[in-house]
Amino acid sequence: GGPSGGAANLGGGPSLVVDNIGELTTHGPQGTLSDAALVVSGGRVAWIGPSSRVPAADRRIDAAGRAVIPGFVDSHAHLVFAGDRAAEFAARMAGQPYTGGGIRTTVAATRAADDELLRANLARLVAEARRQGTTTIEIKSGYGLTVEDEARSVRLAAEFTAETTYLGAHVVPEGHDPADYVRLVGGPMLEAVRPYARWIDVFCERGAFDPDQAREVLRAGIAAGLGARIHANQLTAGEGVRIAVELGAASADHCTHLSTSDVDALAGSDTVATLLPGAEFSTRSPYPDARALLDAGATVALATDCNPGSSYTSSMPFCLALAVREMRMTPAEALWAATTGSARALRRDDIGHLDVGARADLSILDAPSHLHLAYRPGVPLIHRVIQRGEPT
Ligand code: NIG
Ligand code: FE
Repeated sequence: GGPSGGAANLGGGPSLVVDNIGELTTHGPQGTLSDAALVVSGGRVAWIGPSSRVPAADRRIDAAGRAVIPGFVDSHAHLVFAGDRAAEFAARMAGQPYTGGGIRTTVAATRAADDELLRANLARLVAEARRQGTTTIEIKSGYGLTVEDEARSVRLAAEFTAETTYLGAHVVPEGHDPADYVRLVGGPMLEAVRPYARWIDVFCERGAFDPDQAREVLRAGIAAGLGARIHANQLTAGEGVRIAVELGAASADHCTHLSTSDVDALAGSDTVATLLPGAEFSTRSPYPDARALLDAGATVALATDCNPGSSYTSSMPFCLALAVREMRMTPAEALWAATTGSARALRRDDIGHLDVGARADLSILDAPSHLHLAYRPGVPLIHRVIQRGEPT
């Protein structure tokens, strides 16, 4: 949008100007601007242009030459749980492999927890993520695995985000026949979570759900009106990615073990490849081949996979640094994947970029450029977060 005179008040309510932005990454038609300003009003971006021509607004934040980026979109997080598995991590660092077997430990702790404890843990993690620049987060169930415990998990997740995911098909709980459990997941359990869930997910893996079971679960969810996403090709090569593309899933997540036909299938589809390098870091596994996906033209997203087992980090900047250092993504590709790419993985076009009309979700960095996010790993560079136009 070009400069307009007077106070920008397009969306109604008090307007806020952020000016003296040293580098503004929009991921939109205006690209990357220097000496820029933006005005937000009614929770949306109302104006973007040169700082010298910014219209008046009710409030002002002087960015003092800092960089501004779109808020991070963490499109894959398992935040409804109790307890932790620090001892499992220590054992892994001493040589034990990650198998997903520890999921049952967290299931037991989660079932034993009351709503208040789960809610407090959710609030802690969502706040932790926001301090690190995350303005939208997807939250999965998957540590309940009974009708009641899955329903309350997704219900509690819905108190914190609109991007709720039902992962009743995380593992087959102890003492259950797998075929019976799959029918429960796609039947009464699905009915119980449906009022709160936007997405359905399944862990398609040896030791979890096989390809036919994964298809059955996702088809049931799709028939009930949910969008599909899948834990695919995390620990072994398999049919997960193929199933994602076949069923039109919004995202195939992990993508650690891909064949060239998997890469081609993703590139030829609108299924996003969501990479979760925090999981490879914390399980000491080889990282996914981001370059093959990008070079083939696939849409790539980055997310944390925050969970107490395979990736207990809520930090998108950390995942972005891993993507750059370990997966050979450029800093610009990694930032795009952590914002616009992950928004696409949630089939959202109102977030993940900063254009007039987009949601006013952004971070002011304590740095002159987005390059510093990977260049200065582990340093808290999020100076200020603005979510739906509100500085937090
Ligand atoms: O995405 N792969 C399955 N689920 C999680 C790990 C869950 C856990 O270990 O508790 C993941 O890595
Ligand atoms: Fe996961």
